Amino acid sequence: MSETPHIAGLPARAAALELLAAALSRRAGLDEGLSHPALAALAPRDRGFARALAMATLRHLGAIDAALQARLKKPPPERIVHVLRLGAAQLLVLKTPAHAAVGSTVDLAAAQKGGAAFKGLVNAVLRGLTREPPDLDDPDLLLPSWLAARWQAAYGRDAARAIAATIPMEPATDVTIKATGATERSDQKGEVTAWPGFAEGDWWVQDASAAVPARLLHVGPGETALDLCAAPGGKTLQLAAAGAAVVAVDRSAGRLKRVGENLARTGLSAEVVQADAAEWRDGRTFDAVLLDAPCSATGTFRRHPDVLWMASPAEIPKLAAVQARLLDAAARRVKPGGRLVYCVCSLEPEEGEGQVEAFLRRAPGFALDPVAAGEGGAPQASRRPDGTLRILPHHREGGTDGFYVARLRRA
Ligand SMILES: C[S@@+](CC[C@H](N)C(=O)[O-])C[C@H]1O[C@@H](n2cnc3c(N)ncnc32)[C@H](O)[C@@H]1O
Repeated sequence: MSETPHIAGLPARAAALELLAAALSRRAGLDEGLSHPALAALAPRDRGFARALAMATLRHLGAIDAALQARLKKPPPERIVHVLRLGAAQLLVLKTPAHAAVGSTVDLAAAQKGGAAFKGLVNAVLRGLTREPPDLDDPDLLLPSWLAARWQAAYGRDAARAIAATIPMEPATDVTIKATGATERSDQKGEVTAWPGFAEGDWWVQDASAAVPARLLHVGPGETALDLCAAPGGKTLQLAAAGAAVVAVDRSAGRLKRVGENLARTGLSAEVVQADAAEWRDGRTFDAVLLDAPCSATGTFRRHPDVLWMASPAEIPKLAAVQARLLDAAARRVKPGGRLVYCVCSLEPEEGEGQVEAFLRRAPGFALDPVAAGEGGAPQASRRPDGTLRILPHHREGGTDGFYVARLRRA
């Protein structure tokens, strides 16, 4: 936020509440919440405020909840807890002046069904936080302890702390330039669609890490490429811009619509197929195959801080089983001598390293094709001894998404 915090009206704070409630009620709720009518109805400035407030709340949720719990004898209804979370974030993160943050939060509570009964409580809790502000950057409160323990086991104590330290940071927006394929970190603010060159399709939003896997395929004109689990299409655009004849497969019709829009805007082309990639009946094989498998997405917490709180240890083995099936299906589409890139935006080894190690044991026709240091724009620190990549969020100044990437070659 700027030095003079914008004090938005009740509709903007109500929209932030819808967004927070959606984000914490189900997986991918944040993305769905971003298209909520309450948000769409706002003027751009208020929409920006609502989004920033919900995101600030999610990025500090562990510390905010600890501070609230210490002041609540008995938890109020969930809706009022969300209101309190937003109030705390206004006060402690956005640094809204106390009288405005408290007053507007009490109003928001009163606007909820049955909320009038909680006005006194909301007022008292927020006044308490004003008098004794908690330490929002307490490293032990940045993420759920089961996830902290996992990252420590996988990457060691120091790296786990460095990853966690990127959680409260507001991420920059990276874009991929169509003409060169390079990543640039944008310093533009406001709605992306209003930035210069967007309508002309000169670039698309794509995190620097997410842009690495497609580059490692080194496709060119005259080659065929298959992008499995393609929507919304960032990697499809890269492969098409590099000159390959691309087939993009995804099972979600809604998400494929965005692939079509992105292709149209950038003037690129690809054959778009709606199918389950594991079951897709098609006789073709390809020079290059990319599988960006569905995963726990724990590496995307910078733009999706809700994943930290919505992920669960039980889902990881289930996702790993899906990934194994998809990887086998992807492998069947690779021409002899062709290459296969597998990637996930997860920080969990079972979805990355473990997945590829198990695949290599059951698919003797494939071998790792080691990625060279710095190849494809990968951070130096991300290269593992076997030539696969483990990109961690602190590997890039200012942060980046976490990814695992492996390149394989068919004999
Ligand atoms: C990580 S996202 C892909 C992001 C995309 N590759 C990009 O760069 O823009 C995973 C995608 O997998 C799709 N998906 C999940 N299971 C699938 C399956 N069995 N077959 C095809 N697509 C699937 C989801 O609809 C989702 O769009």
